[in-house]
Amino acid sequence: MGLTRELRYYLKSQSSSLPRYILEQAIMTLLGGLPSLVGIGLRGIAYKAILRAEGVPLIEHNVRLLSPGNIRLGKNVYLDSQVYLNALPGGITIGTGTSLMHGTVFHVFNYRDLPHAGITVGQNCFFGEYTCIRGQGGVKIGDGVYTGTQVNIAAVNHVFADPNRFIREQGITADGITIEDDVWLGSNATVVDGVTIGRGSIIGAGAVVTKDIPPYSIAVGVPAKVVGDRRDPEAVKRFSGALVFYGELEELRK
Ligand SMILES: CC(C)(COP(=O)(O)OP(=O)(O)OC[C@H]1O[C@@H](n2cnc3c(N)ncnc32)[C@H](O)[C@@H]1OP(=O)(O)O)[C@@H](O)C(=O)NCCC(=O)NCCS
Repeated sequence: MGLTRELRYYLKSQSSSLPRYILEQAIMTLLGGLPSLVGIGLRGIAYKAILRAEGVPLIEHNVRLLSPGNIRLGKNVYLDSQVYLNALPGGITIGTGTSLMHGTVFHVFNYRDLPHAGITVGQNCFFGEYTCIRGQGGVKIGDGVYTGTQVNIAAVNHVFADPNRFIREQGITADGITIEDDVWLGSNATVVDGVTIGRGSIIGAGAVVTKDIPPYSIAVGVPAKVVGDRRDPEAVKRFSGALVFYGELEELRK
């Protein structure tokens, strides 16, 4: 690949055009590293020139945004430091009141013009530290979805049908992942491509979800198996009489 072609490829993976790339990089270089409330305030105003946001987004220092023109944020979205959003064609939409904690990565990863690529997240979701979503086949997440730390949601598989060729040369399949409202994924859970997790389900820590999970299931293990139903009083009996905590901060964010 010649230098010009390589540069063109690089720019295409960073922004929608050269003028936009220059504007985005200038604003992010000036303000991206500024800590404290001052930085959050200035970015909240200035970043509205490079991404689409309702209200004033709360963006901590050292957040990395690629193709920010394809990022849509609802009101009161919170992006903690070291969050990385790469919104190649297909884009990233994050609903009102949703928080992405330190090191969370949303990467559309659409280098191959996939028709359904993109990541859409509903309102009042919470993504624990270092959670990673790959959106080649399209990832749709409903409202009130919570993840523990280091959860992986990967809407892509490599083709490996020909053992005589490198896997990297055989292309990918990407069917998409849907996670319905009110799902909680425990830490280190992985969701593979093609799966739907039904409303209200619990996925245990470390589970690998390879098949659809019916609504209100409690599913654990590798591969994840349904071991209970939240609507069954027996399955939730340990909460009767348990000490349960709510936070003042949660009330403030409502
Ligand atoms: C899935 C979970 C919620 C289940 O809690 P629970 O309803 O109290 O379930 P129990 O502890 O009674 O366990 C029920 C059975 O599932 C098994 N189990 C529970 N969690 C499991 C897990 N993550 N992986 C594999 N098996 C698991 C238990 O060993 C038990 O098996 P048994 O009946 O053969 O003894 C919980 O174990 C879990 O994984 N929580 C996630 C914690 C987390 O990641 N927190 C991060 C902060 S968001």
